[in-house]
Amino acid sequence: AKITFITSDGNTTIVEGSTGSVMELAVQNKIKGIDGDCGGVCSCATCHVHVNPEQWDKTGAPDELENDMLEFDDNVSEYSRLSCQMKVSEDLDGLILTVAK
Ligand code: FES
Repeated sequence: AKITFITSDGNTTIVEGSTGSVMELAVQNKIKGIDGDCGGVCSCATCHVHVNPEQWDKTGAPDELENDMLEFDDNVSEYSRLSCQMKVSEDLDGLILTVAK
């Protein structure tokens, strides 16, 4: 799947992957602002992204654990997700994510 990241400096990067989490894909491609400090176990929120609202159906809403973690972040929006909790698959092809500040 091809996934587009928009970083806080306004740059747009398109990356491609087929396995792992969206966070891992972002880290591999050195996407600014996605650190993945906890290694993807939903406990740091350094992988926070905002999903393009029009594509919310592609990703779906966060589960309860993820929601609890997102509450620690000041910048949450209605379309916040932790990218480590999203699996890369063809379902996400064309997805546009804005990296949270
Ligand atoms: Fe830590 Fe996603 S990498 S919450």
